[in-house]
Amino acid sequence: DTASLVLGIETTCDETAAAVVERRSDGSGRILSNIVHSQIEDHAPFGGVVPEIAARAHVDLLDGIVARAMQQAAVNFKNLSGVAAAAGPGLIGGVIVGLTTAKAIALVHNTPLIAVNHLEAHALTPRLTDALAFPYCLFLASGGHTQIVAVLGVGNYVRLGTTVDDAMGEAFDKVAKMLGLPYPGGPQVERAAASGDAERFAFPRPMLGRPDANFSLSGLKTAVRNEASRLSPLEPQDINDLCAGFQAAALESTADRLHVGLRIFRERFGAPHALVAAGGVAANQAIRGALQQVATAAGTQFMIPPPALCTDNGAMIAWAGAERLALGLVDSLEFAPRARWLL
Ligand code: KG4
Ligand code: ZN
Repeated sequence: DTASLVLGIETTCDETAAAVVERRSDGSGRILSNIVHSQIEDHAPFGGVVPEIAARAHVDLLDGIVARAMQQAAVNFKNLSGVAAAAGPGLIGGVIVGLTTAKAIALVHNTPLIAVNHLEAHALTPRLTDALAFPYCLFLASGGHTQIVAVLGVGNYVRLGTTVDDAMGEAFDKVAKMLGLPYPGGPQVERAAASGDAERFAFPRPMLGRPDANFSLSGLKTAVRNEASRLSPLEPQDINDLCAGFQAAALESTADRLHVGLRIFRERFGAPHALVAAGGVAANQAIRGALQQVATAAGTQFMIPPPALCTDNGAMIAWAGAERLALGLVDSLEFAPRARWLL
């Protein structure tokens, strides 16, 4: 296990990002640069990410973002220990741009390529900022995924629960859209909910009490839609109350699902070292509070990366690459990009 310097590239959705991370031989990490360009402005007029626009923007932006990341880290390409790219899952056009760029750098500078699973990168991020040992329990909630994962080691993940329909971030985004709030909806719903009355509407708590650790969000989303169309035209207070009701129901369901997930974790793998949250939805303060309570009730510590490392970024890809590299897990230049890639 030797120290390494890894460049990481993230292009699976609407962030064009690159970062340089150092991993020391004791397993600790340090971010030397972390450049994230959000394409939100390009996609906002369409109310969601347009894959073709995203792919073209990655092509336009990535070279410059990589150059800035290298410059800010004051690292020369020839001093890199490896180059990592998110090779999926995600919007395939963007994944191709990022992975191909990483392959070119690897080829030209004769440095190892690490093809990183974007979800694995979210899962390993807490080890970049804190000394966290395996195993731990991960709650991953983003625009495309909602999962409870037992993280047993690098490359060793067991999925304990997942959503049977919408991802949690997707549900936040759809609720925002139906209430006329701009994209991306998660932060908008959180803001509106802060001035709303969560008790005004009796929204369902999906999956409550079920023995498995799965999630369901589409029924709740439909309940919000029905209430919104009944009240239409909506007053600002209606919007706040609908957001508050939705968020409270999503929270209560999440807490219940995690109670079950942690119980299953204990039965199968013993006590986890922590409950860890990751993914864009983990930026939500109310959800953080609920997760903290779940962890306390389960007698485990709660850990969460800072918000900028919860949403998509290059440092998480570089770090996952460094963790894999330390174990000799490198990939060939033939590695094919993957739109779908289970953890
Ligand atoms: O991890 P991420 O940046 O990208 C994906 O891999 O999907 O997550 C983005 C998702 C979006 O659906 C966004 O609405 C949601 O995370 N999100 C939030 C909040 N901030 C971002 N959801 C709820 N509350 C927030 N504060
Ligand atoms: Zn993500």
